[in-house]
Amino acid sequence: MQKKYLILTLTDITKQRQHIEALHIQTLKTLMAEDERVRSIRETLLGAIHQIQMPMNQIMAAEQILLHKNDEKNTHLINILQQIQKSGKVAVATMQECIPEIYHSAEIPVNLNQILHEVLLLEAQNLLTHNIDVQWRPLANLPNILGSENRLRILFKQLIDNAIAAMIQCENPDKQLSICTQTEDDLLHVRIADSGNGIPSDKRTKIFEPFYTTNKGSNTAGMGLVIAKEIVNQHHGLIDIDSEIEQGCCFQLSFPLHKSSRSEVTHV
Ligand SMILES: Nc1ncnc2c1ncn2[C@@H]1O[C@H](COP(=O)(O)OP(=O)(O)OP(=O)(O)O)[C@@H](O)[C@H]1O
Ligand SMILES: [Mg+2]
Repeated sequence: MQKKYLILTLTDITKQRQHIEALHIQTLKTLMAEDERVRSIRETLLGAIHQIQMPMNQIMAAEQILLHKNDEKNTHLINILQQIQKSGKVAVATMQECIPEIYHSAEIPVNLNQILHEVLLLEAQNLLTHNIDVQWRPLANLPNILGSENRLRILFKQLIDNAIAAMIQCENPDKQLSICTQTEDDLLHVRIADSGNGIPSDKRTKIFEPFYTTNKGSNTAGMGLVIAKEIVNQHHGLIDIDSEIEQGCCFQLSFPLHKSSRSEVTHV
């Protein structure tokens, strides 16, 4: 009688998967680096223009007061103030010309669980180095939002970078980063909480202003949250700090759900 054999072959594809994942992360890094470079030049110039505008307005107000007094003794001073304003306007115009154009990528249905997962992979080394425990709680069957994948990656990277920086500065050895996604009615919520020192209530508006930073490093410009807020606005969302939490800091973000994707969901 002829015997029948069944041959079972198992191939360990862990290495191939790791290789594909590493390539994917490398591509994301390159994409984000270019976008971040252009955006940060742009935001820095816009921030600098905003900073120059404040003393310029004060000088203009002083000039108006002197003109109103209509005293000949002030003519020389008025001339100086007008000269300062002229130079200021030239400086602002020069900076405005240097603002690089931004490339608007098309808005597509985006799954934020996927984006957050990718950003966590990008941050993996940083999180490991600083012994940070990550609690990642994605909502299953999360509906999509409409947006730009790359911009959203930059948004979450800014927030996670800030959370890591806050936990490094904090003396608490128990470092916890917790991220979750939820939905409520027509909104999608993302919460990013850390166990750092938190943000004092009187600084919670200031942190969104250009150049506000408490970090000492040479690579910090105080523009991360300005960029983050701009991206949230671009996606018709809201960003806020949860004032209820007692320890650390929790950023909560809300985005409108993409209408046609409420029933058609992506699984991550
Ligand atoms: N999770 C957080 N915990 C505590 N403080 C925070 C947190 N996130 C932001 N901040 C405060 O807000 C400030 C502004 O943040 P932002 O991201 O705009 O600038 P930065 O991180 O200091 O510099 P950059 O992002 O340009 O490298 C920070 O310097 C810090 O004081
Ligand atoms: Mg930052």
